[in-house]
This record gives sequence, structure tokens and C-alpha cells, in this order.
Amino acid sequence: MKRTQHCNELRLANAGQTVTLSGWVHSRRDLGGLIFIDIRDREGRTQTVFDPSDLPKDLFARAAALRSECVISVTGKVRSRPTGTSNPKIATGEIEVMAAALEVLNMADVLPFPIDDPEVAGKVNEELRLKYRYLDLRRPEMARNLRLRSKVATAARVFMDEQGFLEVETPTLFKSTPEGAREFIVPSRVSPGLFYALPQSPQQFKQILMVAGVEKYFQLARCYRDEDQRADRQLEFTQIDIEMSFIEREDIYSLIEELLKRVWKTALNLDIATPFKRLAFEEALNRYGIDKPDARFGLELVDFTDEFRASTFKVFSGAVANGGVVKALNAKGMAGATQGQIEMMTEYAKSFGAKGLAYIKVEGGEWKSPIVKFFNDAEKTALTKKLAVEEGDLILFAADQWLTACEILGKIRLYCADVLKGQGKLTIPADQFNFLWVIEFPLLGFDREQNRWYSSHHPFTAPVAEDIPLLASDPKKVRGQHYDVVVNGVELGGGSIRIHQPEVQKKVFEDVLQIPPDMVKARFGYMLEAFRYGAPPHGGIALGFDRLIAILCGTPSIREVIAFPKTAKGADLMTDSPAAVEPKQLRDLHIELKVAKKE
Ligand code: AMO
Ligand code: AMP
Repeated sequence: MKRTQHCNELRLANAGQTVTLSGWVHSRRDLGGLIFIDIRDREGRTQTVFDPSDLPKDLFARAAALRSECVISVTGKVRSRPTGTSNPKIATGEIEVMAAALEVLNMADVLPFPIDDPEVAGKVNEELRLKYRYLDLRRPEMARNLRLRSKVATAARVFMDEQGFLEVETPTLFKSTPEGAREFIVPSRVSPGLFYALPQSPQQFKQILMVAGVEKYFQLARCYRDEDQRADRQLEFTQIDIEMSFIEREDIYSLIEELLKRVWKTALNLDIATPFKRLAFEEALNRYGIDKPDARFGLELVDFTDEFRASTFKVFSGAVANGGVVKALNAKGMAGATQGQIEMMTEYAKSFGAKGLAYIKVEGGEWKSPIVKFFNDAEKTALTKKLAVEEGDLILFAADQWLTACEILGKIRLYCADVLKGQGKLTIPADQFNFLWVIEFPLLGFDREQNRWYSSHHPFTAPVAEDIPLLASDPKKVRGQHYDVVVNGVELGGGSIRIHQPEVQKKVFEDVLQIPPDMVKARFGYMLEAFRYGAPPHGGIALGFDRLIAILCGTPSIREVIAFPKTAKGADLMTDSPAAVEPKQLRDLHIELKVAKKE
């Protein structure tokens, strides 16, 4: 090896030793005839000094010709830095290496963007970063993210092993099944006209593994979903996927709480409090307007349906008469919002289906609003009391059907929190992690367009036992044995206790979800068959591994914690994928294209 130490290793105690360091030229400064080169490797960096009075001319000239990111090996003596020149910001800041030999292992072209200055590098256009990802990944922040990811993966594997779980790899050439998201399909060469599909998750295989007697399965599993890309979604991503036999919901809660405890301790040296709070879906919607609440701050939604049932303000009383609700939230300290800002919020609310966004500003001891003239004293007293109204507040209303009203104010709540954060009126400490179990989700949702029920999670989720009779009479009231684990407003994972009785599963497919029996047989026949040979009761969960790492790294985008992520359009800018294939490949796959060939 061309090194005796790594670049984050040398300290004052090493003074006098002759060492060899290898790495990249992080920066070069020419000062008073001397050349200072910071050499960087994965671990950190060390200052080396080239002094022309000590060195052969050609060696000094080679050092003078080095550019950022050239790969070098430097040999020299460690010495204490002269008084006043130590750099407390880096671990090797008290020493420097007086170069005696230099080997240039490779040169580097002028970089497309600077990577040595975190200030500048943090602002580089993301497309450029993705095109030159190998340079981007050299930045210490990105290197830290990769390192943390690896460390957490190992900690998770060790923990699961300790708990008696087997890591089993399941196929990534699977079969198309309607599980929710759109799938990627892969044509078969040997079976003309037939396709594999990439799995959206190992859901079916892990359930089959329970039938196979594995009892405790886990996998760091790659999943593929052809969905619209967002900051928290990629076409391919990783789950910590888990399934267990002979368990109930409580077993999953405690397993995941312990796993996350281990992960937080390993990654951040933080002790998180367990058990996590539990919140029923309905309560989450009522209080936060979303099924993955960020409960680190208040600004909770409050119901005023009863108070405004007979209001002279027809927008409110009319909504109630239509079976809807009136909900409000107090955006504390936002009375200063301008008319323009209120209009912007109204438009934002409308983009989620709101008909309007009634408001009251509490300013100069007065309630200012075009609608306040409609309110009587009792209504005002109720608002003051239930919303703890004070000078400087802004009250916002949604009157609509329950779910719509909740969801609109849920979005507005997050919007207000962002504004308040920007104004310094709301602070959330970086090391505050608010974990929640959201439970008691409805098993089914109704698709008005297609006029049929769909599974809110997936069709394998078991109904809450006492709600089973309602499947036939009142499906929307049936609760699923589903749970989501949420942290700081991010859905980290979700899972459920599964249906393990073949006849119940068949009923859900055919009677409830109205999938035609021949399609059920073609798509899920093997599963129903497997369940007839002794399927144990089972359940599981999957945590989004990329989201988990993003939270630990304190970044909102999972692209920051994936080595080679794709853009919003699903492109890999470095390899230029997706890309055209040779006509022969298409012929072999029995595929004829209808799209014009792209130049
Ligand atoms: P679900 O679809 O809820 O459940 O996925 C589980 C978790 O995976 C993460 N996730 C994603 N992360 C990045 N990009 C995506 N496109 C993406 N989609 C999902 C989320 C999510 O909470 N088989 C079931 C689990 C089970 O029932 O055991 C499943 O996949 O963090
Ligand atoms: P209008 O009577 O339509 O002029 O509305 C009066 C105020 O109520 C305006 O500020 C609207 O934005 C607001 N508004 C209208 N419909 C709703 C609704 N369904 N929920 C909340 N506010 C509304």
C-alpha cells in the first residue's frame, strides 16, 4: 500500500515520524514561496508542505503543477505546525507533513464544479452533481451519508440476527400483480410475449416464506415502483422488510421500537424514548389533518361543527347541513400576513380542493375579517376559548366534508409552520425525533370513478377481528390491522397483520375488491393454494431504508443518501439511462417499437 496512515490519523504524538499519505489534492495554496497541499482521503485531510529550499527543483515543480483532485502520494516527516498556524477545525490541525517525496499517481482535469468549499459545493446545481456523481460523492457531506448508510445497514442486520431473524433474498424478476403502484416489466426472451415484473416489495414472497416455516424473515430489499418521483420517492429504493409468524400487532411495535432504538444509538448516539405514542387514524386526521403527523409542534386543528351548525354565515352552516364539518386552526403570531400572502394560502388550499379559506386576523385588539360580521358573541367566545386566541393570531377555517376539511387544514398547518420557522417564531431542535404509531386505518377506500372499493394498504391486510361482519354490510367502517410508523411527519414504514385463512383472502379479493375469480386465480392462485397447506398466522412491516437514512442525516431528500439516484424524470444522468437498445435486442425479445427513434 502506498500509505502508512490515513489522512485523519496523524497527531502531535507522531511528530518526528516519516510517513506516507495517499489521496486527492483537496486544495493547493502557494504562500511565501512554500506550497501547501491538503491531501484528502475518505477519512479526512492532512496539510503537507513543499519547501523549495529542501527539495530538488523537479519535485517542487511537480508539486507546483498539481491541480485539485490529482491523486498523489506524499512521503515526509511529521512536525508540529508553527505557533499560531494550527487549524482547530480539522482533527490533524496541529501537525503538518514536510514533503520529501511526491508521487503523482494520476492527474485530474479541471473540475466541472468545486468540491473543496462546502459553501459553494452545497449550492451546485443538482443535475451537475448527478452527472458527475463520483466527484459529488467525494465531498465530505456525501461521504458521511454513505458511511452512515453502511453503518446503519450493519447495525440493523446485527440486531435482526440477534432477534433470530433469517435474511432471505427474494427474486427481483417477479410477476405482475396489482399491488398499488405501477410496475416495471421485463420481457422474457425464451417465452415470447410473456413478462416478468420487478417487485414493488417482497410482500408475497415473504408471506410464502411464513408458509414455508421460516417464522422470522428480514431482508434489505430492493423495490421498484414506477411512480412520480419526489424528494422522498425513487423508482428503485430499499426497504428493511420484515415478516414474522405467530404474532400480534404488539410484537411488531416492540420489535421496531427496539430496532430504531439501536439504529439511533448507533448512528447518532441518541437514546430515543419508547414505547412510541399511538394515534388512531381518525384522531391523526382530526388533530393534524394528515395520517403522518409532525407532532413536534402544536398548531392543531379544532372542530367547530356544533358551534356553527346554525350560523348566519352560510358557508359554514351550509357545509354542516350537507353533512360536513367546520374546522379551524390558530396560526399563532401570523396576523401580520399581508393580503397577498392570504391569497396565496387560499390558492394553495384550493389546490387541495378547498372552496375557500376563511380567516380572522387578531390585530390591534380587533378581529379583522370580511366574515366576522356574521359571528355572534357565543361563536366568538367559543373560538376564543377553544383556540386560545390572542393578539397577533391568524385563525383559518375550512368548511367541507370531514376528510377534505381535515386534509386542507393539514396542508395549511404545515405551510404555516414553515412560515413561522422562517420568521423564527417556531423552532424545532435538530435532535428532536417524534415517533408515532398511526393505527386503526380504514381497511378500504372507495374509488368513485371506478365505483368500487380498494385496499388502503394492500389486499393481504387482515381486518380487525370484531369488524369482519361489517365487510358485507358497511365496508367503510372496517378497520384494518395496519400500522404506520411515523417520525417528524415522515412515513417511515408500514405493515400489517395478514389474512392467513385462504377463504377469507379469497372473499376479500372477489367479494370486497371485486376482482374477477379468473383474475384472482391467475394473479394470486399460488398464494391461495399455499395458504391451504398450513399457513401460520403472520404479519410484518417494511421500513423505508432511504427515508430512515435521510432522517438520520437531517436531509429532506433521499437522493442525498443514495449513491446513484435518479432525477425527477427517472433519468440517471451519469450513465445516461434509460437509453435505446439495439434492434437485435428488441427482435430477440419479440418487441416492436411504436415510438419514433430518438436522435
Ligand atoms: P409500503 O408500500 O407502505 O409497504 O412501503 C413501506 C415503506 O417503504 C418506503 N417507500 C419508499 N421509499 C422510497 N421511494 C419510494 N418510491 C417508496 N415507496 C415506499 C416508505 C414506506 O413506508 N409490503 C408493504 C409492507 C408490509 O406490509 O409489510 C409495503 O411495501 O418509507
Ligand atoms: P364568500 O362568501 O364565498 O365570499 O366567502 C367568504 C370567505 O369564506 C372567503 O374568505 C372564502 O375564502 C371563505 N370560504 C368560502 N368557502 C369556504 C369553505 N368551504 N371553507 C372555508 N372558507 C371558505
